[in-house]
Amino acid sequence: MPEQNLTEKIGTLDTDRIPRHVAIIMDGNGRWARMRARERSEGHAEGVNSVNRITRISSDLGIQYLTLYAFSTENWNRPQEEVDTLMHLIGWTIRKETPDLVKNNVRIHLLGETERLPKEVQDCLYEGVNATAHCTGLNLQLCLSYSSRWEITRAAKLISGLVKEGKINPDEITEDTITSHLSTKGIPDPDLLIRTGGEERISNFLLWQIAYSELYFTPVLWPDFDNNAYVDALIDYQTRERRFGKTSDQVSAGNNNDN
Ligand code: FPP
Repeated sequence: MPEQNLTEKIGTLDTDRIPRHVAIIMDGNGRWARMRARERSEGHAEGVNSVNRITRISSDLGIQYLTLYAFSTENWNRPQEEVDTLMHLIGWTIRKETPDLVKNNVRIHLLGETERLPKEVQDCLYEGVNATAHCTGLNLQLCLSYSSRWEITRAAKLISGLVKEGKINPDEITEDTITSHLSTKGIPDPDLLIRTGGEERISNFLLWQIAYSELYFTPVLWPDFDNNAYVDALIDYQTRERRFGKTSDQVSAGNNNDN
């Protein structure tokens, strides 16, 4: 779509209802490559362009949190060559993009078992985390060696440790106790979860946090997910009535704060 039409489309968004937090399952890199008789690694490389594009427009639109599922715990089971390619692609991209992220006031956070990543990749990533630590615009969460079941298991261990040490009584454990022991501590739950690539599943991503998120599935493959496709998702999100378990009448009366 020509740029002018994108601008018009963005103009139709209700600026008061821009989601605070968008989470994305970036799927379809492999199929994008296969359709062009290219290597899967080329699909991932093309996927990086989408990451850059979607980060930029999210920041421009005033979205406060963007969480990207870049490498799941289960992705370690892919062929070693693909794992190595992805690891280095992610590390080098962050190193290369860090100056621009700083310029655009984007702060990087890492979620997941990052100690499993190769040391040189960790170095690139933590350089980015440190260099953007002062940024106050978009918070960009990169989920790496992340899975929701890993995260919830870890939270259970941390909380049991506190019980064992007598620092907390089991009766005092609340939903907030669990929330504050997840890697997303301090980050509001996603308002909108997008999955590209045509599959309609959650694949072990933010299971606790998406309890009341709006879900949006699109057949567009991640490398083809352009600003137009993203704005379409945001427009669709703005048509949803978020009831958080209440009735439509209650929501209309403005009583929609609780889960
Ligand atoms: C899923 O597509 C995609 C991934 C497992 C990797 C996603 C990673 C990137 C887009 C690079 C991210 C880079 C940064 C800097 C965060 P798939 O390979 O499963 O595709 P398929 O389902 O078509 O095979």
